[in-house]
This record gives sequence, structure tokens and C-alpha cells, in this order.
Amino acid sequence: MILVTGGAGFIGSNFVLDWLAQSDEPVINLDALTYAGNLANLASLQGNSRHVFVHGDIGDRTLVDQLLRTHQPRAIVHFAAESHVDRSIHGPGAFMKTNVEGTFNLLEAARAYWGTLQGEAKANFRFHHVSTDEVYGSLKPTDPPFAETNPYEPNSPYSASKAASDHLVRAWHHTYGLPVVTTNCSNNYGPYHFPEKLIPLMIVNALAGKPLPVYGDGQQIRDWLYVKDHCSGIRAVLASGRLGETYNIGGWNEMANIDIVKTVCALLDELRPDPAGPYARLITYVTDRPGHDRRYAIDARKIERELGWRPAETFATGIRKTVQWYLDNAEWVAQVQSGAYKEWVAANYQAR
Ligand code: NAD
Ligand code: DAU
Repeated sequence: MILVTGGAGFIGSNFVLDWLAQSDEPVINLDALTYAGNLANLASLQGNSRHVFVHGDIGDRTLVDQLLRTHQPRAIVHFAAESHVDRSIHGPGAFMKTNVEGTFNLLEAARAYWGTLQGEAKANFRFHHVSTDEVYGSLKPTDPPFAETNPYEPNSPYSASKAASDHLVRAWHHTYGLPVVTTNCSNNYGPYHFPEKLIPLMIVNALAGKPLPVYGDGQQIRDWLYVKDHCSGIRAVLASGRLGETYNIGGWNEMANIDIVKTVCALLDELRPDPAGPYARLITYVTDRPGHDRRYAIDARKIERELGWRPAETFATGIRKTVQWYLDNAEWVAQVQSGAYKEWVAANYQAR
């Protein structure tokens, strides 16, 4: 049994679905179902007794203690977080609450539970912290990609909150001996990605004939990884990563935002042509994100060298699957765009 936090979100739900497809080991899934959590992502698990969903907050110590005591998981895989940089600029408080205080609470509950374990159960327990490449800050065009040894230089409230949580995880290992591993991954894309983030936003806006808002000059660079490859990287580190170590996970795929948007448009032109003309006609340059990091890139040689992990998808194969998934799942798209989503779009884009 493993305990997953944030397993109704984008990456967490992909992780839970892949885990249960590949292993007999049950999952308890603790998720607060914020705007980003969506049980529809897990609809295919209905009636599956190996998936136990618990609606609750990682900051609720009584609940987390009770879950650990009752289910005795051999590992915690911690995805739960506020994850959107733009939202962290509009309202950083929730990021401090969940990403910093929530992780602290989870670490304390894990430490107390781990202290009750004996022998092999104690030695084999893992706390796997899922983090981001954004903690390393921003690269210049000629800088080498982020290695695990890079200093932390977070620039947004989101990345600062994730950096703080990484430091807590490190300290709980160093001081208390809690058996932790941390992964720092680049930008994911794929099924169940909430359309506040670049790729799904461009797909759903294009299909609705709405503007495709590109921040600043569109030349910011990100490394993009298909979400299922992130999940396989986490499984590899959880199984065989060295205790107290951090592992960077990336797709060896640096691309400028404008090229991402043009690729999405070209795929839609092919798969769902618009009689009104090429989708790229909708590209609209808008005011930049404050403090916008210029470039991220990941050196993923450590996880390859130590654990033999490499991404299975190229960007060409992954983005085609992703666009096709959004075309095939119009109902999911319509459901996530109802309600509070509209308020967010108005708050972030109206005055740009
Ligand atoms: P997401 O926003 O799609 O999902 C977050 C999930 O956490 C949601 O289901 C939400 O309901 C849940 N959650 C939020 N606050 C909670 C709380 N207090 N208690 C319990 N559950 C809570 O995020 P994501 O994109 O799937 O990211 C998951 C993790 O991976 C995050 O830790 C993020 O920092 C990290 N990460 C994301 C990316 C990316 O490209 N999306 C890349 C690297 C790392
Ligand atoms: O690098 C990993 C990180 O990737 C994760 O830790 C975060 O949780 C995840 O949200 C993501 O952060 P980004 O800020 O890179 O992702 P986002 O999709 O919001 O933006 C990608 C790039 O596209 C970024 O340079 C900003 C730009 N952008 C984004 C949006 C939403 C636009 O140009 N227009 C937009 O409307």
C-alpha cells in the first residue's frame, strides 16, 4: 500500500492510473479537491477496490495520522500542491499554506509513523517528494542545463514555496533520518492537464476560436516532458533512488513558448481543421508575466546513469497524443471549464 497526496490533480491522477495499471499494490489517494483536483480524472477506477480515495487536506494532522495508522503504507508519494505560477502571483497565501505548511505537516506525520515501524518495514519506508525544476531559477541562453548541484534561486512565489518544501524534506532526512527522496521535474504535458497551463489552454482556446495569449515575446524556453514519462521516473526513484538524494527528471526537449504554440496549432490544423483558417491566426501577444523566468533546461544524466531512466516519448509523439486526447475528451474539457475556471480566466487575462 502506498499513500499518494494530490492524486486527483494532473500528474497525481496520471501517476495513480499508471500505478494501478502496472502493479497490484493498492493506493490511498488523499486530495483536498481544490479547483485543480478532479475526480473525473479517476473515473475509470470506479469500483476498483485497490484505489481508496480520501477527500481531505494534507494540513489536517489528525486525518493524516489516522490514515497512516490505519493503512500502514510503505511509502508516501507527495504531489499535493498549489502548482500554477500565475495564481501564485495573484494570491501567494495558498501556496505557503499547502506547499510549505502542508509539506511540514506531512513530514511530521510521516516521522511519527516511521518511528513506530520496526525492522524491514522501517528500513524500506520512503517519503517521495515531487518537486520542480523552477527551484533552480532562470538560465541564460548559454548556461548548461540545471544539474542537481545547482544552487536554489527561486523567483516566483510558487517556486519559492516549492524550494522551501524541498529544504524541509532535506532537513527531515539530515536531522531525523527520515528516508526521503526528491525529484525535480521540468514542464509536464499530457492527458488531464488543467487548461490554465500553456499547452491545454492553447488547445481549448483554439478549439473555441478564442485568442491564444502568448506572454511577452514568446521566446521563453521550457523543457517539456510527457506526463507518463514523469510518472515512470518517479516509480524508478521510489524503487531504487538513493536515500536523501535529489534526481532531476526532464525530456531533453527545450523549446520556446511560441514554437510550442505553433506546434499545437499545426496539429489542430491537421486533426481538426477550422474552416475559418489556420489556428495560428489566433496567436495574440499579451503583457508578460511579472518576474517571468527566461529559460529552464534539465540535465537528466544522474537518473539515467544511476537508475537507467530515459523518457519513452519524444515531443513529437507526446504532443500528438495530447492534442488527440483533448479532441477525444470534449466532455472532460467542458466540465473543467465551467464555474470557477471562468473567474480565473477573467482575473488573469482581461486586463493584459
Ligand atoms: P495540480 O495543480 O494539477 O494538482 C494538485 C493536486 O493537489 C490537486 O488535485 C489538488 O486538489 C491537490 N491539493 C492541493 N492542495 C491540497 C491540500 N492542501 N491537501 C490535499 N490535496 C491538495 O498539480 P500538478 O501539475 O499535477 O503537480 C503535482 C506536483 O508536481 C506538484 O507538487 C508540482 O509542484 C509538481 N510539478 C509539476 C509540474 C508540472 O509541469 N505540472 C512539473 C514539475 C513538478
Ligand atoms: O517547470 C516546471 C513547472 O512547469 C511546474 O513546476 C509548474 O507547476 C507548472 O505549472 C509549470 O510552470 P510554468 O510557469 O512553466 O507553466 P505554464 O504552463 O504556466 O507556462 C509555460 C510557459 O508559457 C511560461 O513561460 C509562461 C507561458 N505562458 C503561459 C500561459 C498560461 C504564456 O505565454 N501564456 C499563457 O497563457
